[in-house]
Amino acid sequence: MDKNPAKRLPATMRQLRVFDSVARHSGFGRAATELHLSQPTVSMQVKQLSEAVGLPLFEQLGKRVFLTDAGRMLQATSAEMFDAWARLEMQVANLKGLKQGRLRISAVTTAKYVVPRLLGPFCQIHPGVEVAFEVGNRSAIIERLARNEDDLTVMGVPPRGMEIVSHPFAENPLVIIAPRGHALARSRRIPLSKLAGQPFLMREQGSGTRLAADRFLHNRGIRLDVRMEIGSNEAIKQAVAGGLGLSILSLHALGPDAAPRSLVALNVEGLPIRRHWYIVHPAGKRLSVVAQAFFAYLKAEGSHIKFPTLAGFSDQGGTVQRA
Ligand code: PGA
Repeated sequence: MDKNPAKRLPATMRQLRVFDSVARHSGFGRAATELHLSQPTVSMQVKQLSEAVGLPLFEQLGKRVFLTDAGRMLQATSAEMFDAWARLEMQVANLKGLKQGRLRISAVTTAKYVVPRLLGPFCQIHPGVEVAFEVGNRSAIIERLARNEDDLTVMGVPPRGMEIVSHPFAENPLVIIAPRGHALARSRRIPLSKLAGQPFLMREQGSGTRLAADRFLHNRGIRLDVRMEIGSNEAIKQAVAGGLGLSILSLHALGPDAAPRSLVALNVEGLPIRRHWYIVHPAGKRLSVVAQAFFAYLKAEGSHIKFPTLAGFSDQGGTVQRA
């Protein structure tokens, strides 16, 4: 080996990877194929490494190459170096937060049918990530957003006039639900105006569902007969099934699996109200590595979310279609 300390450690991790591949395959050609390198490049890397060590690393017999004693010693050393490098990579990931990080998510009430379904597989990929998940209606969640209490927020109607970044990641259609035996359950293309005389049970003021439904009806000059306000999707489903009236709910609120047999979505002109789920954070916020990873995960996986199978609608690849 070279006595000059400045030249003592000329071997690079790349050369060691090439050397390791040649040793495992007992040949330069197969190492070149594995590493997507040309054979002369592989030979050159091994030659430089052997010069750095000061002894030949391989001896050639016919087409095959065999490790020399020096080569075997280097192979053991490089295995330890690869292990150490892998440990370093994991520690760096820990420092960055993906192994031990904390993810604070808040979501509007109806998003509880969507977000946990995405958090589950995300946490399986990153088992060290600890999640705090807050659920509230839109008004409550906007207050949290204004106080910058969460890493990310999921909502259907991002607030106007706030400095935020919002990104749509999945569909969030609103449908009109009725009990299965309702007089309009089998009708097609029901004019919206025909529903004006029906009793409606609506989500409470401050809910995103209510806001989106009110905007939609207002733009079409329709006033519904709102008999009751209920602050829970589950209670609304029960009340509609019990015949208390119709309602406008997110298709997701009907449950991720088979929707209640007692409910149908009415086939109304202009519906479903097509909307999206948004992932939101204050503008200028520095997202943690975990938050960045979950943001990317939602963008990649959101379009694959399944809708419930509800009489009146069918789900085709995440797109709501008339049945
Ligand atoms: P909400 O929001 O649960 O507050 O009604 C849902 C939505 O915006 O779709």
